[in-house]
Formats: sequence, structure tokens, C-alpha cells
Amino acid sequence: MGILAGKRILLCVSGSVAAYRAPELARRLRERGAEVRTILTEGATRLISPLLMQAVTGTPARTELWDEASEAAMSHIELARWADCVVIAPATANTIARLARGEACDLLSTVCLAAAAPLLAAPAMNRNMWSNPATLENCATLRRRGVSLVGPDFGEQACGDVGEGRMSSVPDIVAAVAQAVDLSGQLAGRRVLITAGPTREPIDPVRYLSNRSTGAMGFALAAAAARAGGAVDLVAGPTAAVTPPKVNRTDVVTAGEMLEEVMRRAPDCDIFIACAAVADYAPARYSPGKLKRSNAPARLELKPSPDILAAVARLKNPPFLVGFAAETEDVERRARGKLKSKGVDMIVGNQVGEACGFGDVKTSARVVWEGGSERIGQCAKPELARQLVGLIARRMGLGKVALLRAGSSAR
Ligand code: C5P
Repeated sequence: MGILAGKRILLCVSGSVAAYRAPELARRLRERGAEVRTILTEGATRLISPLLMQAVTGTPARTELWDEASEAAMSHIELARWADCVVIAPATANTIARLARGEACDLLSTVCLAAAAPLLAAPAMNRNMWSNPATLENCATLRRRGVSLVGPDFGEQACGDVGEGRMSSVPDIVAAVAQAVDLSGQLAGRRVLITAGPTREPIDPVRYLSNRSTGAMGFALAAAAARAGGAVDLVAGPTAAVTPPKVNRTDVVTAGEMLEEVMRRAPDCDIFIACAAVADYAPARYSPGKLKRSNAPARLELKPSPDILAAVARLKNPPFLVGFAAETEDVERRARGKLKSKGVDMIVGNQVGEACGFGDVKTSARVVWEGGSERIGQCAKPELARQLVGLIARRMGLGKVALLRAGSSAR
């Protein structure tokens, strides 16, 4: 059965032709053990019947906000609380616009506004409606707020056009739902501190020493830890990465500033993930005036930067410590060496080099801990982050206990 067994999925159907695939989606979710309830918008009821959704889910579909009998059985707020995940499939341009504006004008929009559970939308519309800047901006707004979008796909459309705008396949939507609920509650009640990105060590007012880190991995970890219910503090070096929803971000520039911000928070955190590529060395002297070509030193004298991970490891009651080992060769042996030398609980070893490791690329990892290791195969950084957070929860013995606690408080 797997991840979806026993999960409560609220399927919200809006009025696109792709609504004809909603019953199939409900069936596949139920096959995997999920409990499914349905909301249909007025537009959706013109395309498929509430009775059909009742037949495939075993529960009457809801269509009205102001329906006395349904509200008496389970109010719209209870329905929002009930859900472990809200899936809007298909999500029309109109529904997406309403969600982006935060409207509560019908049952679907009201429940989505009230739900604390992860929201997932599968857009479906004509290709021009999809590529319209208004829709794209609305989607960007939703993503920023933590809504996951699956699709749309490219292909032939009901109107005869060919292009992007078809609702994603049912298996793809089921997989996205499984991913959305996978981590739920695993880090509930835990404080997670994460460093990300590079640091910059100034030479003079215009020059600095740094590295190629983009912050992508640390930000993906922050997003995954927040989705898992953790209270996440992210201390980030200079990066263009976008702050994930529900993450408290502090920006720093140098290793010294990063150390200060981390040490302020570390004594209160349960998990510290040192993902930043801290510049190992800083110029021994800072020149307040721009160095001239003519008087620049032939050699730049360097001093080592503070080791932030090691400083947290030296605390009296250190949190669960996770470090990274970005290596160009011999990843596992070096990761294991770092596990000992840094005195941490887990090291994530990954291969870096000219062709891999930095930015929005796929990567793999060898995760080591005292007495064990696990390989995470080639995948995108958000997926790697999801697996790492699951692994950290398992190594800390959190998974099931936290899930039960989260489940019982929600019910
Ligand atoms: O010693 P090395 O730089 O290879 O260790 C990498 C790990 O240590 C990473 O987790 C990195 O974030 C952390 N680190 C740190 N402070 C430093 C150097 C590395 O926290 N000055």
C-alpha cells in the first residue's frame, strides 16, 4: 500500500474538460489505501455528476458552501482540517486566479483558504490561457506560498489546439500526492537550523574570495524540512535562491557572520544541517581602499575561516549534526573520515566537479553514519532533500512517533 495508506485526500474538481479524469484519479488514490472526499465547483458539475464521484469515493461529493445538511454533517472548516492533502485536479485558470487572490467565494476556494495541509494543483486549460502572463503570475504566487503544481503537460487539447495545458496523467498526479504527504509530521515540533550557499570573504571593497555554491541544496533541504513540519531557520550566504514557504531566513556574507548567526540559534535547535560551502580561507588583511593594480601584493596572505560545524559539535548538548562532504574523488572514504574528524552524526558525501554538483543539476549522494551508509541515486536536489530529511528522521527515530503524534492531534 505504501505512503498513501490511511491518508485523507480532499479532491477538488473544477470546471475543465479534464474533469472527466477526476473519477479515475479518485479510484487510483483509493487503490493505494487513501480515503478520498470530493468537492466539485459549479462548473465541474456541468461536466461530471456528483453522483459519479460519490460512487467512486464512497462518500457524497460536496458542491455547495451553503448546504445546511452537508454543513451539519461536516462543516467546510472541518473538511479543511480533515485533509492530509488537498488536490485540485483539474485546476482551471479561474480557480488558480481565485486561489492566488485568496478568495473565499465558493466551497473550493473557502476550503483551500482554510486548509493547513499541503495543497497540490494540476492545471488544465487551453495553451493560450496557460501561457498568459496573468496565469503564469498567479501560478508563481501559488508556488511562492508553497502550493505544489503538477504539470500541465504538452499535447492535444479538447479545443483542437496542440500545446502545453493538458492536465498531467493520473499516475503523475498520484505520485505528486504521495510525495506531498510523504514527510508530513516527521519533524513536527523540531527546530531545524540549516546553513546554505557560499560565503564571501572580502579582499577590498570590490573583491572577494568565494566559490561556486548556489545554495540550491540548502534551500531544498529547508523546504523539505518545513514540509515535514519542522520549524526551520535558514542562515544563507549570498545567493539568488528564493526563500521556501514557512522558512525563517537570515542573510549573511562572511563565514564570521554565519558563525555568529548559527551560534545564536544552535543551542535551541534539534537538528543542525551544515550545507553551506563556507570559504575555507579569508584574506589575512582587509584593504579598506581598492587595491590598485600597481600596488597589489604579488601574494595574497590567507587565514583559515572558522569551522562552523565543528563549533556547533563542541556545544555541551549538540543537536543532531549533519555535514556535507563535496568531493571530486573518493567520496565515501572521505565522507567517513569527516564523520570522525568533525564528530558529527551524519555526513552527506557528494561528487562535485566541472560537470556536476553546482546549481540546478541532478546529483547523487552517499550518506554515512557510524556503522552504516545509504546511497541516494541520481536525482534532482528537491528529491535528494526529501530523501535526506526522511533519512534524518529515521536515524533520529522520529518518523513513526512524530507521525502518530501529528495524526492524533489533527483528529
Ligand atoms: O571540512 P570541510 O569544509 O570539507 O567540511 C564540510 C562540512 O563542514 C560542510 O557541512 C560545511 O557546511 C561545514 N563547514 C563549516 N564551516 C567551515 C567549513 C565547512 O560549517 N568553515
